[in-house]
Amino acid sequence: MKILAIETSCDETSAAIIEAKKDDLKVKILANFTASSLSLHAKTGGIIPETAAREQIKYILPVIEKALNSIPRINNQNIEESIDAIAVTIGPGLIGSLLVGVKTAKTLSYVWNKPIIQVNHLIGHIYANFIRGNSKFETRNSKLNTKRSKPDTDIEFPATVLIVSGGHTDLLLMKNHEKIIWLGGTRDDAAGEAFDKIGRILNLPYPGGPNIEIAALKGNENAINFPRPLIKSDDFDFSFSGLKTAALREIQKRKLNVKDVEDISASVQKAIVDVLIKKTLKAAQKYNTKSILLAGGVAANQKLRDQFESEIRNLKLEIPLFVPQKWLCTDNAAMIGAAAFFTGKKTPWRKIATNPELYFN
Ligand code: KG4
Ligand code: ZN
Repeated sequence: MKILAIETSCDETSAAIIEAKKDDLKVKILANFTASSLSLHAKTGGIIPETAAREQIKYILPVIEKALNSIPRINNQNIEESIDAIAVTIGPGLIGSLLVGVKTAKTLSYVWNKPIIQVNHLIGHIYANFIRGNSKFETRNSKLNTKRSKPDTDIEFPATVLIVSGGHTDLLLMKNHEKIIWLGGTRDDAAGEAFDKIGRILNLPYPGGPNIEIAALKGNENAINFPRPLIKSDDFDFSFSGLKTAALREIQKRKLNVKDVEDISASVQKAIVDVLIKKTLKAAQKYNTKSILLAGGVAANQKLRDQFESEIRNLKLEIPLFVPQKWLCTDNAAMIGAAAFFTGKKTPWRKIATNPELYFN
C-alpha cells in the first residue's frame, strides 16, 4: 500500500509517500519533502498564524509535486495510479495552516477518486517511531551497552509514550494501535514552548529549543538549581511556566554575558529533561510497559535522549527506549503517513474537516 501524506498543521508544509504491507512492523519512506516558513518566524521571534498560512499556500503544491515526481512510474502510468490513499493532518494546529492541507487533500481525493485517511497530528508524532531505520536503545537481556543496535525491531505493547512538542507535552499509555490512553499532560506551557520562551529572553534565535541545546553544550548544568515543578506529584501532569519565571529572574540579576547564557541554557535544559524523564519512567513502571517511545520536536534533544538511556540503564529497568531519527521528531508528512497506515480508517472526502482543537479522546 502506498500513501500520499500531507502535513500542514503549523509552519512546515510537508508531503511524503510511504509504503507498507499488511504485516510490516514499520513503514518505508519513498519520498518526503518539507518546506518551512521558520526563517520568517525567526524574524518575529515566534509564529504569526497568518504568515504561516500564507506560506503554506505557496508551498503546498510544489512539495506534493516533488514527492510524486520522485517515485518511479511503472509503464508510464499516471502517478496517482500507484497511490492507494491520501493521509492528511486534520488537527490540532493553526486553522489557516490546517485548511491548506485539508482542502488540498480533499481536492486530490475528489479528482483522483482516492479515499482520505484523517490523522491527529499528535498521534502522527508517535508514529515517527514506526518508520524504518529508527533507533532502539536495547536494555533487554542486560547487555546494557548494546546501544541502538536493532533499528527495525518490533515495538512491544503496552508502550509508554512521551510527546514533547512546541504545543504539547503529554504522557500516554499505548495499549495497541487502536487504544491510546492519556495519562497526563502539561497544565500550562509545553516543554518546547518553555524552551522557546526562555530562548527568547536569553536573546537566542528562534526556535529556542535547538539553540538552547547548542548554548548548553558549553554551560554548567549545575550552575543554577531551577525548580522542577510537579516532579514528585502523584499524577502524570507537568508544569513549565514557573521555570520561565525563574529563568527570567536569573537573567534580570545579571548583565548576561556569554557564560551566563550558556549556564542558564544548560541549567534550564537539565531541569526540563529531569522532569520529563522522571515522570515517564514512573508511568512506565506503574503500567509495566514493554517499550518507551519518545516523540515530538523536543525528542530531538540529545541531552534528553542520552539521559533517558543512562537513567534506564542505572535503574536496570530493561525497557527498550525508542526514539525517532532526529529529522522525524519535528513536523513531517512521513509520520502522518505512518499513522494513517497503522491506525487509519478510509473516509470519503465529504466527511473530512479540520479540527484545530483536536486532542486525545
Ligand atoms: O513537534 P514540533 O516540530 O512542532 C509542534 O508540533 O509543536 O516541535 C517544535 C518544538 C519547538 O518548541 C522547538 O523549540 C522544539 O520542538 N525543539 C527542540 C529541539 N528541536 C526542536 N527542543 C529542544 N531541543 C531540540 N534539539
Ligand atoms: Zn508537531
